[in-house]
This record gives sequence, structure tokens and C-alpha cells, in this order.
Amino acid sequence: MAAPRLYISRLLPDPVMAAARQQYQLLNEPRDAAPAHDTLAAGLCEADAAICTLTDRIDASMLAAATRLTILANYAVGYNNIDLAAASARGIVVTNTPDVLTDSTADLTWALLLAVARRVAEGDAYVRSGDWSGWAPTQMLGTDVSGKTLGIIGMGRIGQAVAQRATGFNMRVCYTSRTPRSPDWLPSQWEVRSLPDLLKEADFVSLHVPLTPDTHHLIGARQLALMKPTAFLINTSRGPVVEESALVDALLQRRLAGAGLDVFEQEPLFHPSLRELRQVVLLPHLGSATLATRVRMGMICLENIAAICAGRAAPNQVNQ
Ligand code: DGY
Repeated sequence: MAAPRLYISRLLPDPVMAAARQQYQLLNEPRDAAPAHDTLAAGLCEADAAICTLTDRIDASMLAAATRLTILANYAVGYNNIDLAAASARGIVVTNTPDVLTDSTADLTWALLLAVARRVAEGDAYVRSGDWSGWAPTQMLGTDVSGKTLGIIGMGRIGQAVAQRATGFNMRVCYTSRTPRSPDWLPSQWEVRSLPDLLKEADFVSLHVPLTPDTHHLIGARQLALMKPTAFLINTSRGPVVEESALVDALLQRRLAGAGLDVFEQEPLFHPSLRELRQVVLLPHLGSATLATRVRMGMICLENIAAICAGRAAPNQVNQ
């Protein structure tokens, strides 16, 4: 029997590409850059299975035309880039890559938190500039992290991993939950709060919710106004969870101490004022960007595809 036809939208790490070539008939030579809409649509049309990424907007018309396609393995934990209802209507299984990127994303969240609190990016730029003339008692004073309150919005896998790391910094952790009660499986020292209370209390607010119609602009002008002027906002979830223009206003007016952003409302674009603000640290969506994690994400995509091609249930199916 001929190997299933696989389309991969973007170049993945070598071990993943090698495994894909070994198991499937690869329809294309993926590149680093995102494919144009038409190229992506044509690729999906030819494929029995596809691996796509969070930069591929997969809409209903593309899915309707992809008559051979049985599985779309999304190379990400989030899947807001895919019209899930349209995929379900066509009987296409959609899968994601949970768990394997939890630690790398939690680590990067902490990298951003520490970087904004202790002015790491600013300090690095200063030393490189050649202007540094030596240690000074009042130079680049930052904010303590130890002993402060960390507010986590979205206590799923990544939120919990971020909270666990806070123990080492002797921080108090509070979080929002979909229900008013704290779920039994979470450590009792982590305190559940309503969103407004968390925003008022936390010194660092970190976002870990998926992007859905409910979480779009979850943090806007009203929510930012509740935060302490000494607090920092960290976003490693999805850009549109924060209303970027409202965040910029709050930062410009010093109603917020700073922000660490790995994601933006319209990547790769971002609000032009962010570039000018020294109290923000900006990263190019690096949450899961370690070699080991990106290889594991690819292998999970291939495992899900293998399951569907063998007539089994996909372990990470996200649609009905
Ligand atoms: C995800 O998996 O959703 C991440 O944002 C990818 O880095």
C-alpha cells in the first residue's frame, strides 16, 4: 500500500523531517518561511495528512477543498489558527502538542519576568553600547522578585508549571479559576481569586489562557487600571489576549511598571511605541523554542498522524 501523502507547511527540525520522510510520502520541501495562503490551500488539497503551525490560518474554504485530508496535526499547543468547527464538519481530526512544551514555555515566562524586573535587556544593551563607565550605587535599579505575589491567569499545565517555579523565589501565588472554588488537585497554598482581585493584588501577572472568543482582550484598559502601578504584566500565551494599545497607554502613563511580551496582537507586527519603551522586554514568540521541545512537538504530530492512518484514535485530538 502506498504511504500516506503528507504536507508539512514549514520546515521542522531535522530529526522530525527525517522521521516524516521515512514514514510518509512528503508532498513538498517545506521552507522556514510561512507559505502563502494559496500554497497552503493547494498543499492541503493534495494531502491525506498535514502538519501546520500557528502562523497558518486554516479557514473553512481551505478545509472544504481539502477532500482527501483526514488529519491536521497542529505544531503547537494552541489551535486558534484553525477553524475547528469547519474541520469537525468535514470529519478532519485536529490535534495539538500538549505537555511537551509546558516546561520550556514556563521557563521562558520566568526569563521574561526576571528580565523585566531586573532590567536584563536594558543592562545588556548598555554594556554593549560602550557607555558603561563602571558600577554605581543608583545604576539601573530594578524590582525584587523574591517574596512578591505572582498572579496567574489560567491555571492549566503551563500556569501550574510557572507557579511551581515561584516556590524557589518564595513567592505567594494566586490564580484565577473558571469555577469560584480552587480545584482539589492544586496545592492549597495557591490561592484562588476573581480576576479583578488578582489584578489588584499581584506584583507580577502572568497570562496562560488559550485564545478563544472569551479570552480575546481579556486584559484591556479596565483590567490594566486595576493593576498596581508597580506591577508587571507577562504574556507568553497569545497576543490578542491583551489589548495592545491599552497596554501601551498604561505603560506610557506609568500606570504599570513594565511588561514582558513573547506574543503580540498581529505577529510579526506590534504596536510601534513598544519599541521605544525601555520598561518592556520583547521576544519573537519563543515560548516553546528549545531544540528538544520543538523535536518532541514534531514527533507528537507524527504520532497523531500515524494513529489516524492506522485507523486508531489520535492521542491529542482537540475537536469532536
Ligand atoms: C504553542 O504551542 O501554542 C506555542 O505558542 C508555540 O510556541
